Amino acid sequence: AIVDDRVRADVVIVGAGVAGLYAAARLPDHLEVVVVDKGVPGGDSGSSPWAQGGLAVALGPDDSPAVHAADTRLAGDGLCDPVAVDVLTREAPGHVRQLLRMGAQFDRVAGELDSDDPGHLDLAREGGQRVPRSVHRADATGAELVRVLRAAAAPKVSRLAGIAVGLAQDDARRVTGLWVLVEGRVVAVEARAVLLATGGCGGLFAATTNPAHATADGVALALAAGAAVRDLEFVQFHPTGLAVAGTWRFLLTEALRGAGATLHDAQGNRFLLERHPDAELAPRHVVAKAILDQHDGTAWLDATHLSEQQFASEFPTVLAGARRYGFDLVNERVPVTPAAHYQVGGVRTDLDGRTSLHGLYAAGEVASTGVHGANRMAGNSLSEALVFGARAVDALVAELPSRQGDLGPAPALASRPSVATDGLRDRLRSAMLTGAGPVRTEAGLATVAAALDTMVGDLDLPAAVPDEVELWHALRVSRLLVRAARLRTESRGGHWRDDHPASDDAWADVHLEHVATRRPG
Ligand code: SIN
Repeated sequence: AIVDDRVRADVVIVGAGVAGLYAAARLPDHLEVVVVDKGVPGGDSGSSPWAQGGLAVALGPDDSPAVHAADTRLAGDGLCDPVAVDVLTREAPGHVRQLLRMGAQFDRVAGELDSDDPGHLDLAREGGQRVPRSVHRADATGAELVRVLRAAAAPKVSRLAGIAVGLAQDDARRVTGLWVLVEGRVVAVEARAVLLATGGCGGLFAATTNPAHATADGVALALAAGAAVRDLEFVQFHPTGLAVAGTWRFLLTEALRGAGATLHDAQGNRFLLERHPDAELAPRHVVAKAILDQHDGTAWLDATHLSEQQFASEFPTVLAGARRYGFDLVNERVPVTPAAHYQVGGVRTDLDGRTSLHGLYAAGEVASTGVHGANRMAGNSLSEALVFGARAVDALVAELPSRQGDLGPAPALASRPSVATDGLRDRLRSAMLTGAGPVRTEAGLATVAAALDTMVGDLDLPAAVPDEVELWHALRVSRLLVRAARLRTESRGGHWRDDHPASDDAWADVHLEHVATRRPG
């Protein structure tokens, strides 16, 4: 590619969700920080502002980091790293205090409105949580976090709106910056360290609760640079997306079920009572699978025990959102179906956000810290983004080299005119949902693998156009995800193989990890 511009920074953060913004806000003031985000016109490119339920933190009277850790490991279905889980659950309360000091307005128990003591926060209960544990702002917690963190980060950072095309690396493969496509020009960002905070992969599937641009860019960048990525087969499907046509599934927060909402089959039966002792509040993969076993993979969520007033104060986002689609949660059961919600695996990091490449750190959904195992407990994504975002900043600052390094060659881009990508994107999303969605078989995975090979041939090299670069990233990650899903011949957590419906002890400690030794083509 022809490089048109150069930007020099101390630290570049890719992604402007909770992990990226919290990290930016914590970086020392003397550092030059550039935040790169896709800057989708008129919309959100990442999932953070859409997070509803809350952040899981052991603050309740019957809770403790140990109980939080035990629930997290249970949801993780045998694959969690217990040390990472302990770090998460012990350190999360301190970050909630920090957010309160930064001005976050979380819901409080009645009568304690002026206190900034986290002991007075109202806690919602979500799936897999044995006790109420989710600190929240009604059902719009992510929006509140992003509001506070944007304000804290803004004075410290310069923003670059564009899509990252590739990581820059010196001869020793140290990550030295980033190549970003900005309005048709490739900009070279030289940096002493790069933090990936790009979020997840819901946009690879034709049914998702994520914004369409959550397309696993960070995994693709890391992969192309030769960083280790792992556990890509584990994609969490949220059980209760509103069943409406189209890719976007409006999320009906699990906190509704925490507040007593129930799930019913077409005959009105509460089918989860016989599936799990925690019924509707069982871990997500259990609830999602039970819904998929119903007619058309659809169930009916009944929250009519909540009054209009309760909806208005506790669940205004879901009430208004469902009404936009013609459903009235106050008065009727509404159809729900699972939708891609969270990338459980990702770029492997240690406890301090270090990836396997010098100079490259990762935090938030893009990272695989080991806390989620094979499936993430509700509320742990926001907590993880804070805890490990902060740890990554500490490590990165302590390890900053004295100056920027060589950028190496820019990634290749095609010089042909751009092609229409909408059709290819739709094919990708449908193939992924059908073959590598919540229910998988070898036959279905083989079909999607072949379809992906054809699509990769259709877009062998992207032109300098954001949609092509995004799709190119998405295709590479999808291929690897499918490969991992084919290899794991068992069912565990978010990975359900209908042809291997049991968990297999032989897989109990196995993480499928991939390191590219050459640039993926
Ligand atoms: C929800 O509100 O149900 C989603 C929360 C989460 O994914 O942690």
